[in-house]
Amino acid sequence: MNFDHIGLLGIGSYVPERVMTNADWSELVDTTDEWIIERTGIRERRYSSDDQTTTDFGEYAGKAALADAGLEAVDIDELIIATDTPEMFFPDSASFIQHRLGMGEIPAYDLAGSGCAGFIQALDVARSRAACGDKKVLVMGIELASKFFDWEDRNTCILFGDGAGAAVVGPVEADAAANHPSILSLKTGTDGSRADILSRIAGGTRMPFSMDVAKKGLHKLTRMDGREIFKEAVKHMCAASTEVMEMAGVSSEEVKLFVPHQANMRIIHSVAKHLGAPEEKVFINVDRYGNTGSASVPIALCEARDMGVVESGDLVLCTAFGAGFHWGAALLRL
Ligand code: UT7
Repeated sequence: MNFDHIGLLGIGSYVPERVMTNADWSELVDTTDEWIIERTGIRERRYSSDDQTTTDFGEYAGKAALADAGLEAVDIDELIIATDTPEMFFPDSASFIQHRLGMGEIPAYDLAGSGCAGFIQALDVARSRAACGDKKVLVMGIELASKFFDWEDRNTCILFGDGAGAAVVGPVEADAAANHPSILSLKTGTDGSRADILSRIAGGTRMPFSMDVAKKGLHKLTRMDGREIFKEAVKHMCAASTEVMEMAGVSSEEVKLFVPHQANMRIIHSVAKHLGAPEEKVFINVDRYGNTGSASVPIALCEARDMGVVESGDLVLCTAFGAGFHWGAALLRL
């Protein structure tokens, strides 16, 4: 299939107002600002208000991406929501967001459970759907992690933040110099043998919800082997990034900006080192937002563009890794 004419028509993001600093966390659990900064690079993160939900975040980020693309909700042909923190167990968040945005009766569905790699996976699907029917697809990564992590578990609670990012994927007008926006290459992968390493184990068929589950807090994020995830994240983000550059015949010198998933400053530095990317070419905002899961890559991409770090025509390499394990990389021309 020819993807040359498929690119990002617009991007948008949303982060909530409520700021939670490391000092705030140190009053709730046995941790310190120094430990969190040294091990993760995170200084603060944003949390939703009590009454905000996945649909609200989808509305804000979706409207921003539509405005950026110069489109209305009714112009969109398909909606894909990547989230592990849905509005409810079913129906999916896409149903609620489709209605909230006032879209037509278009196909709308969630890609759930892919953790932090969700947006790149959704981008992969969106690219194919856009190419096979000249469709405009609105794709989002949305997480309200603060509603699901264990507020007493210092191993996990300090890592995550809430946010949403969105992109409109669709056909672009090709120009003779081939400088039009494009998804030049994209690669995703999964290693299901590691599925238990990062999980919220209860609430599904293996362990249906019960009073016991509630008492033990098993419906929250309960399992995370941080060290193992660290190693695997570096390995797979590096391999996927190298592969997409090779697929497109692009060298790392030609890439204007690397936008890795923002999980941990040390993971980002490790990936950059392996790829030979100098510090100034690697976008970092994990210090301000923590790990926003599937929203992390599109939020970072939006910030980089809004700050003028990248502009139309620039090559940007996005990569992510998450629960599953799932991973992916996408080489974009803005
Ligand atoms: O996107 C997927 C989501 N998950 C991730 O991305 C996680 C990736 N992994 C990481 O970011 C890092 O592995 C962590 C930040 C989670 C942990 O850093 P680390 O350098 O791998 O620390 P560690 O696991 O080796 O733990 C060191 C110590 C432990 O104490 P002991 O057993 O050595 O006495 C932990 O109990 O640090 C302790 N610890 C804390 N101490 C203070 C764990 N969390 C905290 C905390 N404050 N918040």
